[in-house]
Amino acid sequence: MNTKLNEEQTMLKDMANHFAEHEIIPVARELEHNHDFPKELIKKMAELGIMGMSVPQEYGGIKTDTLSMALVIEEISRALPALAVVFSVHSSLFCYSINEFGTHEQKKKYLPLAAQAKILGAFSLSEPEAGSDATALKTTCEKKGDGYLINGIKSWVTNGQNADAFILFAKPKGKSNKNKMNAFIVEKNFPGLEISKIEDKMGLHSSLTTEITLDNCPVPSSTLLGEEGQGAQIAFRCLDYSRIGIAAQSVGLARRCLEEAVKYSHQRQAFGKNISSFQAIQFKIADMATHLDAARLLTYRAADYSDKNQPFSKESAMAKLFASETANKTAYEALQIHGGYGYSKEFYIEQLYRDARVLSLYEGTSEIQRIIISRHLLK
Ligand code: CAA
Repeated sequence: MNTKLNEEQTMLKDMANHFAEHEIIPVARELEHNHDFPKELIKKMAELGIMGMSVPQEYGGIKTDTLSMALVIEEISRALPALAVVFSVHSSLFCYSINEFGTHEQKKKYLPLAAQAKILGAFSLSEPEAGSDATALKTTCEKKGDGYLINGIKSWVTNGQNADAFILFAKPKGKSNKNKMNAFIVEKNFPGLEISKIEDKMGLHSSLTTEITLDNCPVPSSTLLGEEGQGAQIAFRCLDYSRIGIAAQSVGLARRCLEEAVKYSHQRQAFGKNISSFQAIQFKIADMATHLDAARLLTYRAADYSDKNQPFSKESAMAKLFASETANKTAYEALQIHGGYGYSKEFYIEQLYRDARVLSLYEGTSEIQRIIISRHLLK
């Protein structure tokens, strides 16, 4: 694997870094504090082309390789982790799944608007009783006339409050095969769809996560994504891809934790010296930086496999597992270096510590990643 970035990747990374420094960081803490959705930032990301990174040029995007996507997500996450997941779900789940599995008509309808952020996308697989066991979902779709009627409750929908369209999974009513489900592109304005709850989360406050209820929601058959019964393959294939984005989000968050720890260790005095002069702090910083680089390299490797069209399910699970756990450990150690001040909302590390916690939960818990990795090794 070549880890030297090419010209286009370097340009995108620099652009995202500049945007993060000058546009995101100045407003990030206020957005998070007020639980405000970052719609102005998303508009600016569309102007820069970022919102169309999973959209081919013929549909109005700038379709880049997976590594570029990871580079951009790392930069955004370093500035505001909540914005990174808003973007990752829109791009790596919503746009990606339509581009991979959609018809020309579906691509023409949704992708140009998504690339310009005129619509925001979401991905709705989980349910109150179907999280890790994703195929245990209870939402049903029943053939009715030229379409389907969907009934059920979906939970933990990132972007749920602000999304205009959802990739939504449901099971054909009355069918007993656990794995047979359908994927649909369901629009927010379809009758019977209601945002039934906004989650009061521990972190990532400017990314709004919701429950949605579908009560006899009619969807035309033109909204079926892929083939009838192909839903599980679509869900898991897209999650394989988007986990590279969550790994990159974790790398960005861990990098910021390290930066905050280094900065604080130069400022804080104890026993007559800056605490950066103590080996206890130096060793923590050395370990944090080493784990961060290892997480980034695993993320780049998964992206590289995806870009070379090699199977990457195991590699993306490894990257997501290691990077999300690294982000949590790095947030813990960075907060430890801040001492009691790290427990105060006055310091940014307090927010990073809370934001890190979800990384080893969503898009498949660490335990699910281990299942995926070990299945590949033992099959
Ligand atoms: N690619 C394509 N197809 C795949 C696949 C993959 N990587 N993995 C499995 N499949 C297919 C299988 O071939 C099977 O199809 P057939 O029956 O036709 O053969 C079907 O999908 C079901 O596969 P399994 O029998 O392996 O399924 P399982 O019930 O044993 O579960 C699992 C496997 C890995 C545990 C899976 O359930 C899983 O990944 N769970 C975690 C779910 C998850 O990540 N949820 C995140 C929600 S989205 C979210 O968080 C987004 C957000 O908003 C931030």
